[in-house]
Amino acid sequence: MANLQGKRIILGITGSIAAYKAAMLTRLFIKAGAEVQVLMTPGSTQFISPLTLSTLSKRPVYTQVTSEESWNSHVELGLWADAMVVAPLTANTLAKMAHGICDNIITATYLSARCPVFFAPAMDLDMWTHPSTAENVERLRLFGNYLIEVGTGELASGLVGAGRMAEPEAIVSTLGRYFRKADTLHGRRILITAGPTHEPIDPVRFIGNHSTGKMGIALAEEAAARGAQVHLVLGPSALATQHPRIELQRVQTAGEMHEAALSVFPGCDAAIFSAAVADYRPAQPAEQKIKKSAEALSLDLVKNPDIAADLGQRKTAGQYTVGFALETQDAEANALRKLERKNMDLIVLNTLEDEGAGFQHDTNKVSLLRKDNKKRSFELKPKREVAADILDELQELAAWKKDGL
Ligand code: C5P
Repeated sequence: MANLQGKRIILGITGSIAAYKAAMLTRLFIKAGAEVQVLMTPGSTQFISPLTLSTLSKRPVYTQVTSEESWNSHVELGLWADAMVVAPLTANTLAKMAHGICDNIITATYLSARCPVFFAPAMDLDMWTHPSTAENVERLRLFGNYLIEVGTGELASGLVGAGRMAEPEAIVSTLGRYFRKADTLHGRRILITAGPTHEPIDPVRFIGNHSTGKMGIALAEEAAARGAQVHLVLGPSALATQHPRIELQRVQTAGEMHEAALSVFPGCDAAIFSAAVADYRPAQPAEQKIKKSAEALSLDLVKNPDIAADLGQRKTAGQYTVGFALETQDAEANALRKLERKNMDLIVLNTLEDEGAGFQHDTNKVSLLRKDNKKRSFELKPKREVAADILDELQELAAWKKDGL
């Protein structure tokens, strides 16, 4: 059971059928020790009565910025709260939040809130998969808000697929975890490499790979949420991230990634190597575009620096390194050899066998193997939760603070 003792939570409820779950959510927040201020859009009151929620939260529910009885200061509310949760979040309110529209008590409070904001979308399958929804979710995430992933299953319309609001228990435990971990990495500096590298063949072509950088970005965001100062060295990725404690440095090649990592590592407490670094690069990239002429073309390749191995050698007492291994056979033995060879403290073993794991997915399934031979295997989970498991393990093996409450 999550501990939210003394935490002040604003719960914003918007007009989705999943609003009926907000009663249970309110009850669970209160049971966990939180104070809950419920805000509702007028639309949501069609699905669940403000009276139910004010009874459960033991506070008046606000449905308007101004009403005949009072003016509800969204600025004061935003300052009062330790966290704001919008659950369920409709496609409509999501779009408003993503674009700064503030035409009701929830959107106005969101815009002036200084606390972390969590959002749990709920909508029908086709609305959820619409590109504008995907873009708005990404915008909200990039503003630093926390997505509570939708579930998959039967929807109110009868369609089956993604779009269900996360269960109230999952929402409460997400907040519990957030507060428990909030400052546990305060004062730590963490270097993270992420994404692919592009090794130029000529001015227009390169050797690359399918890495997206998602896992590394999830690690950076989770470490920053726990209070760490993060230096993220990101290869060419279409993704981005924004957080006041993440310093994002974009690079193209393994050589540039190596140089960037080398220069910040001495001031870091740990380095996590999640990048898929090209092992080889063209020995002499052509200065001009290579013309198509001969039937066959050979490229001379030379080995790239191994960033993890190099920093593993340079590591001093009190510094920790974490790497990844993607193996297709004899996985565990190979991963352990890699951990040893690169002088790592922890290695994350990815499997490609499982649906939804590895490159280009939002989920991953990993085992964590430690230098001291301890091993933990996890289920398929969203990458953000995988990132939390990896940081938990690092914090434990380094004997750093693990729990804040
Ligand atoms: O040897 P392999 O490429 O399988 O090792 C994977 C691990 O080593 C990953 O953590 C990866 O980020 C890191 N690595 C690196 N520099 C390289 C190759 C791999 O940092 N040139």
